[in-house]
Amino acid sequence: MSDVTTIPAVLILLGPPGAGKGTQARMLEEAFGLVQLSTGDLLRAAVAAGTDAGMAAKAVMAAGALVPDDVVLAILKDRMRDADTKRGVILDGFPRTAGQAEALDGLLACTDQQVNSVISMDVEDGPMIARVAGRYTCAGCGEGYHDMFKQPAKAGVCDKCGGADFKRRPDDNAETAGARLTAYHAQTAPLIAYYEGRGVLERVDAMADIAAVRDALQARVKRVMGD
Ligand code: AP5
Repeated sequence: MSDVTTIPAVLILLGPPGAGKGTQARMLEEAFGLVQLSTGDLLRAAVAAGTDAGMAAKAVMAAGALVPDDVVLAILKDRMRDADTKRGVILDGFPRTAGQAEALDGLLACTDQQVNSVISMDVEDGPMIARVAGRYTCAGCGEGYHDMFKQPAKAGVCDKCGGADFKRRPDDNAETAGARLTAYHAQTAPLIAYYEGRGVLERVDAMADIAAVRDALQARVKRVMGD
């Protein structure tokens, strides 16, 4: 059996913490029937479940460093085999190192596939700390909010599911966010040149407001999906 199911469209959102990868990936899921695969979410689920992968990842994530490639790859490979990925996937937070990018190429090559599009969400570092530190999510459905930039229409009630319970991530504080930004520049930003060289990279100004970024991203994904 191949390591991956055939996935017709493989899109990557590349950007530092707070760039809006998760916010936009969830809107792309709804607009195009794609599936968001966030390695951050998969790792947090593994930590919560107390699996071996979760145990290996917990302290690394709390420090804002990158989890070892083999741990991340094992989790992602499992998820890519699920049937719901059959129209296509948006990789959110993966790959994050040269080793992960090469491993992804190898996985996709097993089924004659390749990465279709990589969108770099271009932002300035400074405002990213405020974006990350102000973030919270609905505990029920995972909808994302922000203290300043995206509040529920009715205070304290989730727009999507009506839930009233919200949570914040333990790594969403100014100190850890700074460490995550440093890791991004050292280990992930070089992938911009890697994918540029392959002719699949596009850039979006992710400093614009959420709706403007959504429109710019969706126009690009529409071309890739041929919708
Ligand atoms: P992960 O969960 O992937 O976190 P991250 O990359 O640091 O990204 P964030 O979730 O912080 O940011 P985002 O770009 O999704 O922003 P969002 O849309 O939420 O990774 C966490 C950890 O897991 C890592 O540090 C690492 O340890 C580990 N890990 C994960 N993947 C790994 C891998 N492949 N290899 C190794 N380790 C890995 O937006 C942020 C906030 O801003 C929200 O509140 C939102 O409402 C708001 N916002 C969004 N867009 C805008 C806008 N345009 N204007 C104003 N506000 C906005």
